[in-house]
Amino acid sequence: MRMNGRSPVILDHLTSLADATRSRILMVLERHELTVTEICGVVQLPQSTVSRHLRALADGGWVNSRAEGTSNLYAMTRDELDATARRLWLLVREGVVSTPAATHDQRRLQSILAKRRTKSQEFFSSSAGQWDRMREDLFGDRFHLTALAAFADQRWVVGDLGCGTGQVSAVLAPFVKRVVGVDASAAMLQAARRRLRGVDNVDLRRGELEALPIDDAQLDAATLMLVLHHLPEPEKALAEVARVLKPGGRVLIVDMLPHDREGYRKQMGHVWLGFAEDHVQRLLVDAGLGEIRTVNLPPDHRAKGPELFVATGHR
Ligand SMILES: C[S@@+](CC[C@H](N)C(=O)[O-])C[C@H]1O[C@@H](n2cnc3c(N)ncnc32)[C@H](O)[C@@H]1O
Repeated sequence: MRMNGRSPVILDHLTSLADATRSRILMVLERHELTVTEICGVVQLPQSTVSRHLRALADGGWVNSRAEGTSNLYAMTRDELDATARRLWLLVREGVVSTPAATHDQRRLQSILAKRRTKSQEFFSSSAGQWDRMREDLFGDRFHLTALAAFADQRWVVGDLGCGTGQVSAVLAPFVKRVVGVDASAAMLQAARRRLRGVDNVDLRRGELEALPIDDAQLDAATLMLVLHHLPEPEKALAEVARVLKPGGRVLIVDMLPHDREGYRKQMGHVWLGFAEDHVQRLLVDAGLGEIRTVNLPPDHRAKGPELFVATGHR
C-alpha cells in the first residue's frame, strides 16, 4: 500500500470521510455540481461550516471546483480518485445512503434542482417577447437557415442551376461532397468565383439551363433558386434537370407566386410574373418528377418583392 511518509494513504482518506457531514456532502456532489449556497440548502448547515468541510474534502482530493460566472461549482472528483479511495467510498456510501439524513438531503437536492429549472424557465417566460431580438442581436437572423443545409447528405453532389453570384453554392459547399454551379452569365460566374475563393468543392460552369453542361444522372440534388421566371421554356430546363438527376435525386425550386409587377419584365428580364401552384406542379410532373410538394414561404417583413414559394420533387 502507498504511504505518504507519515501514514498509509487510506488512513488519510478515512479521516476525510469519518465525518458524517463530509460523507453527506459527497453523496450530494457525487452526481451534481452545486454552489456552496445550494449545498448549504441541502445539508441545512451554515455556509462557514460547509465551506470548512469543502476545504477539507478538497485538500484530501475528494472534491474540486470550477468558476462559473460569479459562483464556484463543486463536484466530487469521482473519476480521478485512486483505487483505494474508490473502494473506500463505495463502502462508506453503502453505509450512509439509507440514513434518514441522506434521504432528506436527496429530497432537498431534488427541490433545489427543480428550482434551478424553474429559474431558467422563468427567464424564458419573462423574456419570451424579447427573445427573438436577443437571438438576433447575439447570433444574427440567418444562422439557423444556413445550418439547415446540414440536413443534406455529405456524399451528395448538388447542382446550383442558375447559380448567379454563388450564394446558394456557398451555403451548401461546407455540407456536401461537391456543388456544380451553372450559369449563362460570365459576369455572374466571375462574382461567384470571387465569393467562393478558397472553397475547393464548388465547380462553376458556364452554360444554359436548357442544355446543362452536366452528364446524365450525376446529381443527387439540384436547386433552381429564383431562376425559373427567366426561362421562356421552363419545361426544357426541367427536362434537363430530370436528365442530370440520379434516380431518387431531388429538385428544389424557389420562385415567385403570381404577381402583377409588369415592370419586372423590362427591369430584370422576367418572362413569367410568378407561378401558380398548379403551373409548377404541371411542369414537374411533365418532366417525369414525382413526390411533388409546394409550400408558400412566410413573407419577410423587410422584403419588397413578391411572395415566394418552394417546390420540391423527386426523380
Ligand atoms: C435572379 S438570378 C438568381 C441567382 C441565384 N440563384 C440566387 O439565388 O441568387 C438568375 C440567374 O439565372 C441565370 N440565368 C437566367 N437564364 C438562364 C439560362 N437560360 N441558363 C443559365 N442561367 C440562366 C442568370 O444569369 C442569373 O445569374
